[in-house]
This record gives sequence, C-alpha cells and structure tokens, in this order.
Amino acid sequence: MEDLAWGTDAELTDEQFYNRERDISLIKSLLETTSKGSPPTIMIVGIRGVGKTVLLKKIKKELENDYLTSYVDLSATSGYQKGELTEIGIMEHFYGSWMEACQNKEFFTVFKKVSKFFKTKKFELRDIVDAGGIPLPIPQSEDDYKKLSKFVLNLPQTVYEDHSKDIKGSIMIIDEFQALKDLGGRLDAFLWFLRSVIQNQKNVAYVFSGSINSRDSIIEKIAGNDGAFGGRMLNVEIYPFTKETVRNYLNEKLPSLKLEDSGFERFYKCTNGIPFYVNTFAKLLQKDIPLDDERVKCEFKRTLPLIAVHLINQWSRLTLHEQNILTTLIDKPLKRKEIGEKLSITSGSLSKPLHKLQNLGLTESKNGVYTISEPILKAWLKKEYEEKGVFPFRSI
Ligand SMILES: Nc1ncnc2c1ncn2[C@@H]1O[C@H](COP(=O)(O)OP(=O)(O)O)[C@@H](O)[C@H]1O
Ligand SMILES: [Mg+2]
Repeated sequence: MEDLAWGTDAELTDEQFYNRERDISLIKSLLETTSKGSPPTIMIVGIRGVGKTVLLKKIKKELENDYLTSYVDLSATSGYQKGELTEIGIMEHFYGSWMEACQNKEFFTVFKKVSKFFKTKKFELRDIVDAGGIPLPIPQSEDDYKKLSKFVLNLPQTVYEDHSKDIKGSIMIIDEFQALKDLGGRLDAFLWFLRSVIQNQKNVAYVFSGSINSRDSIIEKIAGNDGAFGGRMLNVEIYPFTKETVRNYLNEKLPSLKLEDSGFERFYKCTNGIPFYVNTFAKLLQKDIPLDDERVKCEFKRTLPLIAVHLINQWSRLTLHEQNILTTLIDKPLKRKEIGEKLSITSGSLSKPLHKLQNLGLTESKNGVYTISEPILKAWLKKEYEEKGVFPFRSI
C-alpha cells in the first residue's frame, strides 16, 4: 500500500515514519534523565525539511504517558504571524500549551493554583486574552509581566511537584525557535531571563529545535560558550537520509515506483535525501513505469513548481531588491562586494537585505562568501530563467 506522508504533514503514523531509530533512542535516553532530577537542555538542529518536527512529535507521543509534555511551535505564536512577536505573546502560547497538557492528564489542581495566583498578585490588568481556550490576564506593568512570566515558566515544575506520583517529570519542546529572532534587540534579554528561570528547575527538560544552520548567530546566542545556556546545552543534529536509506525506504513504502539505477541516482541528486523532497517528489513521479536518469530529470523539471511551493511563496514575498540579490548567487557564491558590483550598488546597502535573506534561511554565508542555501529554490529559478528568459520577479 502506498503510504508516504505529504511533505506538509506534521504528524506521521507509525507506518509512515521511517528510520531515525538511533536519533530517537539518543534523545529519549537524554530526556529520561529528567526522572532522576537532572533534566537536560537539548538543541536539535537540521536543515528545513529534514524531519525535526515529525521526530519531535514522535518522541513526545512515546513519552506522553510518563511525563507531562508540551509542544509549542513558536512560528505559530499569534503575534509572529503578524510580524509582531512579543514576549507576552510567547508566554500566552506557553501557558496555553501547559494548560492543555494538564487538561489531557486531568491534573485539575493546577487550575486552582492559577486563579489563586491571579487573585493574590493583584495584577493591574491591561487585557484578558484567550490562550488555548483558557483566559489569561495580561499585566499592565513591566514588573507584573516579569511575575507572570516566572509563574508561567514555572508551571511545569509546579505541576510536577503536585503530581510526582503520576509522572516522572515535565518535557517542553520549543520548535521553530528561530522565530525568536523577531524579538530583535530584545532577544538577549529574553534568553537570559528564560535561562535564569529554568536553570533552577529540577524536573523539567527543554528541547529547542529549529531550521537553522549551525553557523546561525542565534545558535551562538543560545548554545555558544558565551550564550545564555552556555556549555549546558546538548546538541543533536538531524541529517538527511543516506542513499541507502532512501533506496530501502522507497522499495519498502512505494514499490510501485520503478526507479532504474540511473534513475535512482538522479532522484537522490534532486532530493539530496531530504525527506520533505523525497516524499513530495516520489509521490509526484509516475508509477509502474521504468524511470531512468533522463526521465527523472524531466519529471523533476515538470514538478519543480510543486516541490518548491513553500519556497516560491517565500520568494514572492521578497522585495525586488532582495530577489535581485538572490539571482546574483545562482551561478556561483559571491562576496558581498561582488554582489554590490553586479547590482551596481554600494555594499553597505546590502547589509539589511542580506541579513533578512539569511534569517529566512534562503542564503548563508561562510567566511564572507554568500550562497543560496536552498538548492531547490535555485533549481526552480534556473528553470524559470531558462524557459522564460527572465526571473519571475513579479508575484506568481
Ligand atoms: N522519518 C521520516 N519518515 C518519513 N517521512 C519523513 C520523516 N521525516 C520527515 N519526513 C517527511 O518530511 C516532511 C517534513 O518534515 P518536518 O519534520 O516538517 O521537517 P523539519 O521540521 O525539519 O523542517 C514530513 O512532513 C514528512 O513528509
Ligand atoms: Mg519543523
């Protein structure tokens, strides 16, 4: 039976989920130390589409019985989508997810604690918002905000202490944490505050994850030696599937796909073993006919607009200036000065757009040389240019 997940699926069935046994057992064994009162802080990195989110959700499911678990996707924080990520928005999100976790476990004593907290602290209220179906008062002053944040961040520890007979600890998974970059100049303060609160928690493990490369500045800020979590953070990198894995995966899960040897080589080249692309491309390929190198190449071009749809969306939201910069990098990596020369502009005016492209994960730089970090986007731009003679600058 054909059972490949779509590239956009966030939760896979056990039949759909493939491989990663070693990553799962490593991460689980790290997390299990929480039960002994020495919880780890873990950073999971890997490129976009490699399978971090589905892996985290699987681990969460497997530990849910023994632990109070919560998963938050920071890019789904309400303010973030509007370009206004705030600390209070993040707290709302955390709060909502813990309350939901407690509801699922039927740990109702926490709800009494919550209302007591809000009564005795006598907040000056600015607003009351809906946090996952539960009303959350929004404090007026900075001081009240700090108190509220501490209270929210300590919830998983508090709940554990009330229910230490029922669970072995709490686990918080914070996905897409690169979204925190939107805090801009307030990022450092936020990270240090987070650290200061959670470092005293003896029974809560934290897992951070996001689509960032290891050279990204936010990694330094969190996990670097001088970062908020210093040497305390355990790094786990998730890699694309190897050739061998992809071959076995397709044979097992999609036998109707008849890739000849040369066709398979091309398939691997096109997808780089990134599960998102492996699944999407495999689902779009013709079934039950032999596919050789030429055929796969052809099909890749034909289906590129579908495979690259999330990147095309990102591309069409860029400014013309940002798009122009990307196109200079299609043929080869360039230094900032060289990009400036190609576009006849000063290299100073490149700072902001280059920074943004990097934040979006579309470019990366190493030793001052910039490259496009999404080969699929590059392939699509090339194809558009070849077919139409111009790059698709206007929205599509
Ligand atoms: N272990 C896996 N087995 C099968 N498919 C996977 C696996 N990991 C990822 N995928 C596929 O890749 C897609 C993207 O995975 P996701 O976890 O969202 O990536 P990331 O969070 O790293 O950007 C999933 O929707 C699924 O289709
Ligand atoms: Mg993800």
